[in-house]
Amino acid sequence: MGSFCPRLRKALGRIPVARSGWTLTIALCECFLDSYRSPSRFQSEFQEAIDPWSYGTQEGRNRFSVALNMLDQTEHARFALALEIGCAEGMFTKVLASRCDSLLAVDFAPLALERARQHCQSVPQINFRQWNLRHDPLPRQYSLIVVMDVLSTIFRPASLQAACAKLIDADQDGGYLLFGDVRQSIIFEQAWWNRYLMRGGMIICELLKSHNELIQVATHDTETHVFALFRKIS
Ligand SMILES: C[S@@+](CC[C@H](N)C(=O)[O-])C[C@H]1O[C@@H](n2cnc3c(N)ncnc32)[C@H](O)[C@@H]1O
Repeated sequence: MGSFCPRLRKALGRIPVARSGWTLTIALCECFLDSYRSPSRFQSEFQEAIDPWSYGTQEGRNRFSVALNMLDQTEHARFALALEIGCAEGMFTKVLASRCDSLLAVDFAPLALERARQHCQSVPQINFRQWNLRHDPLPRQYSLIVVMDVLSTIFRPASLQAACAKLIDADQDGGYLLFGDVRQSIIFEQAWWNRYLMRGGMIICELLKSHNELIQVATHDTETHVFALFRKIS
């Protein structure tokens, strides 16, 4: 039995329809489990390693540069009140803060926030808060909202749509929304069913684009990531 499933998977992988069917089955299971919904899942990633997603590598720094270049192309040299969702250990937070008068960085994993506070202790305009995108309200309006590599961890389409709507509501008129996320495999990106399951950065970007209040002002795709800068219009 141990070697049956991998062999079957490999055999199915050679048949495009079967490969798509297999991927759909896995995606449906993931949608049902929605396993990143709990802070404890992320908390244990941070317990296991410092910088669990290797943001300190050249690849990580390149990702930050793409995002910052997009912001620097806007007519705003600085943002009065910015919000970063899912700040993790504060690596992007620190560079983002140099473009903001005030920056609220939020995350639902306590260990991430503890490390982020330490990493950014020399930067007075940053405030940190434990906050959950799925459940907690956003009472203020922001001139910039940054959400990178967070939305793709919400596997239930209804929860994903609700999270996107919440961010758009909290963006002030004329404010910016900077989105970045990891791309899924070509099987997901080209599958008819991904319109409904909405997995991966590409389709989430399309979802944001479909909101009437947002216009896309810049976009940048790499092999692994998609980035888009939106502006809210009244
Ligand atoms: C993959 S990391 C991305 C970190 C950072 N945004 C970046 O791109 O460099 C995802 C972060 O989002 C946080 N996160 C995931 N779901 C969240 C939620 N529902 N509310 C708040 N934070 C969340 C995780 O704890 C983790 O720190």
